[in-house]
Amino acid sequence: MVFGGRISVRYALKRADVARLDTLRVPRLQDIPLCDFHNILAVWNKAKKTPGGYAMVRPVLSVKKEPTLLDDLNQALAGETLAAFRYLYLSKIASGISSLPLSKLFKEMADGEWDHASRFIERIIQLGGVPISKPVEWEKKAFFSYSDPPRRGNDLKAMIKESLKLERSSLEFYQRLASKTRDTDMVTHKMAMDAMADEAREERKLTALLD
Ligand SMILES: [Fe+2]
Ligand SMILES: [Fe+2]
Repeated sequence: MVFGGRISVRYALKRADVARLDTLRVPRLQDIPLCDFHNILAVWNKAKKTPGGYAMVRPVLSVKKEPTLLDDLNQALAGETLAAFRYLYLSKIASGISSLPLSKLFKEMADGEWDHASRFIERIIQLGGVPISKPVEWEKKAFFSYSDPPRRGNDLKAMIKESLKLERSSLEFYQRLASKTRDTDMVTHKMAMDAMADEAREERKLTALLD
């Protein structure tokens, strides 16, 4: 039995759904055996039969979608596509006396990010998903928040610093993806590890340019 107190239980509705129920706010449902709290349907059915129960449960029963692997892969695709465009753009606008090596590096990075994007498209298709294709979705789903590249390319330092932020966001994202897939999906795990190694290399090259 549940005697008040605040417990929060995660319920698996489908693989990706999580619901939380705060028992303090549903006192009339507290006679549900504790084990039933692991079964969202039992809680839901009990709530419907209890006078006022439906209204009581509904406001606290929030269903939060956890990102599935396909969501993660689409997030990767969105981020890589935007990063590729950004680096290509920067490679063309970088100007000034010492801009040539940086411009070359940005172009190489753009090619590298396109390659990443292409691998994620392939993986999404292999897994039976649909790669996102609308540009508006790229910005919404990307693993970093996109901001416009500078209009003029003479502030090389600012460009490098912005790019470092992007590379560090990529590293964090792939670290998370790699640990999430380590025991469940070796192919995606390896892709995340490979991407992480590439981003780390780029991060080092950019940092060296700041010295
Ligand atoms: Fe990348
Ligand atoms: Fe990168």
